[in-house]
Amino acid sequence: MSIEAEQNAFPAQVDQQVHFQPPQLAVIVPSYNERGNIELLYEKVAIALGNTSWEMIVVDDNSPDGTAEAVNELSQVYPNIRCLRRFGRRGLASACVEGMAVTAAPYVVVIDADLQHDEAILPEMLAQAIGGADLVVGSRFIAGGSAGAGLSERRLSGSRLATRMAGMIAGQAVSDPMSGFFLIRREAALAAAPRLASDGFKILIDLIVTSARMGKPLAVAEVPYTFRPRHAGESKMNPLVVIQYGGLWVSKLTNGLLPPSFLLFGLVGGTGVVVHLAMLGLFTAALGQGFLLSQVAATLIAMTWNFVLNNNLTYADRKLRGVRLIKGLLSFFAICALGGIANISVAHAIYQFDQQTLVAGLAGAVMSSVFNYAVTRAFTWK
Ligand code: GDD
Ligand code: MN
Repeated sequence: MSIEAEQNAFPAQVDQQVHFQPPQLAVIVPSYNERGNIELLYEKVAIALGNTSWEMIVVDDNSPDGTAEAVNELSQVYPNIRCLRRFGRRGLASACVEGMAVTAAPYVVVIDADLQHDEAILPEMLAQAIGGADLVVGSRFIAGGSAGAGLSERRLSGSRLATRMAGMIAGQAVSDPMSGFFLIRREAALAAAPRLASDGFKILIDLIVTSARMGKPLAVAEVPYTFRPRHAGESKMNPLVVIQYGGLWVSKLTNGLLPPSFLLFGLVGGTGVVVHLAMLGLFTAALGQGFLLSQVAATLIAMTWNFVLNNNLTYADRKLRGVRLIKGLLSFFAICALGGIANISVAHAIYQFDQQTLVAGLAGAVMSSVFNYAVTRAFTWK
């Protein structure tokens, strides 16, 4: 065959081989240790969606229980399920965004792996989106829905508070802004994606607020459902998730002036002060060391404490390990030392100006906190 003939033949050949049509709906399932749930979820979704063309993308953070292997086994049987496996990362919100980013489907729906969300409402959610809604939220709190047996008393009151807080930043009425079950036009989600907070659980409220603030408010519809108890495995909800939500809320309330991780970084810094003072007392009083040596030791211990806490909490989604952990610790020390210099110079300058000890001291402390936050974020946990 001449080259020309070959070139002409090629597209036809490709055309014959590729009979894959992009599905209309991508079902995004964030997962961490959900091995015992995926197959049942797939079957239930398949039954619910009937003739709709759809695919399932499980975004798994390399779960130790082998969820990804279980998904790959299912892919051998059902061609419309695949796994996006992430390494060295954790995070529900970023998992959802990345799942949305790898599909060509015009509509995407996020559903939990543990069968708490009722897949039977999927066709209605899709119909509402095709009918013009940008975002369709599965709601437990409108007529016809309920939090049912899915939430404990404690979780329910926490959820109520979180919902009320969300109302303060949402700018529009949404009955269940904490829902982890929602369908959205892929384009609308991806338009907001670069500005979403990557950490934490609360991607829905973030999508609503971020889109509105970008001048593209989402037309929201709601479909009721009853929240079920988890099937297999355990919830990943923990105090860190709650603090991360607090960070997101503060960030939205201050119009992005205080980034979500700043709250956590500040709380960690607060515990560092306590550790510092305790160590100073230990070295001077209990061990009888001189002030200077004790202060140096207490400073190093408190900085290491802060580093470890930030690495495991504030930056849990990009935790440093191995050699990068050591390098990170050294850069953290160096940056905090510079922060200390910034603190003293600012405090000194302000003190010279107005002789107010408290004001000057506070300004110095704020200066070094902001400096340490911004610079370690850029260099230590980049
Ligand atoms: N990839 C990935 N990475 N997935 C995760 C991670 C993570 O770090 N953490 C949790 N997930 C997955 C879980 O495997 C599950 O499929 C889904 O996210 C929800 O996690 P659960 O641990 O079941 O959360 P929950 O039931 O306590 O909270 C759910 O209900 C809340 C409403 O009460 C979530 O949907 C929340 O978003 C929702 O607010
Ligand atoms: Mn759950």
